[in-house]
Amino acid sequence: MGGGSDELEVGFYAETYDAAVPDWPGEISFYLEAADWAKSRGEAVLELACGTGRVAIRLAQAGARVVGLDLSPEMLAMAGQKSAAIDNVRWVEADMRTFDLEQQFGLILIPGHAFHNLLTPNDQVSCLTCAKRHLASGGMLVVHLDHQDIGWLGDLARDKDGAFVEEETFERPKTGRKVRALRAWSYERSTQTAISQTRWEELDENGDVVESRDTEPIRLHCLFRFEVEHLMARVGLEVSATYGDFFGHPLDDDSSQMIWVARRPEDNAGERETTSSASGDFRPEAKRRDK
Ligand SMILES: C[S@@+](CC[C@H](N)C(=O)[O-])C[C@H]1O[C@@H](n2cnc3c(N)ncnc32)[C@H](O)[C@@H]1O
Repeated sequence: MGGGSDELEVGFYAETYDAAVPDWPGEISFYLEAADWAKSRGEAVLELACGTGRVAIRLAQAGARVVGLDLSPEMLAMAGQKSAAIDNVRWVEADMRTFDLEQQFGLILIPGHAFHNLLTPNDQVSCLTCAKRHLASGGMLVVHLDHQDIGWLGDLARDKDGAFVEEETFERPKTGRKVRALRAWSYERSTQTAISQTRWEELDENGDVVESRDTEPIRLHCLFRFEVEHLMARVGLEVSATYGDFFGHPLDDDSSQMIWVARRPEDNAGERETTSSASGDFRPEAKRRDK
């Protein structure tokens, strides 16, 4: 897929994704810094499950060579429309569990909690194995996950038929109308799966509902810290940092996010150790501790 198609009629989720999903605090600066690190090594960036290009396009605009990969032609159509004037970003329709791009990257990102879409250890290992295969020697993988709130999950597990609760509102760019997003959650404890169903209510100027849309339930795997550590070890990626936010603070009990930075070990690790630290690792926490 090249610049994306503007002929595909996209559904409500893809059409409104950027309006509904704000950046996480510090997120884009973090990824820009990581992309600069890859650029300093002369290497490109791959974003897995890139959606509408919310992150990938910002990195391309800052000069990185970027490939964005996603399963959804609708999300990629939005990404293609938004990036029509940029020639250093390319979109690929593929599955992050099985892709083969015949290219290696200095940096691979899985932002925006997209990895939670992989529901089984096999799927997660397949994805990380593919990612590792596409990393250059010493290249970095960044995975942004939710940090599970067991209090919240406990409430969901007790109340299996989650009621719809308003979670966010946003303006639909196409109509200029306010949209209220209500979500009903439940939790399957035996598979660590959170299930969410969304109802979008589009409102007129009086606040009356003019259109209501219900999605199919989405299943998301709830990953815990040491589960991720095991996954990384299983595929042979070395964890270099685990943060609780995009400002480089360590993961702790109050963290709402988990950001994993892992690297593909250097080929000829012994010989290259000195070279690698001389060229500098990606270590954002050094600058950010005071924020
Ligand atoms: C919550 S969106 C995140 C989009 C983007 N990463 C961001 O941060 O804005 C999740 C994305 O994951 C994609 N996705 C889910 N499963 C996938 C898979 N197996 N392979 C590739 N993309 C997948 C969906 O199509 C969707 O675009």
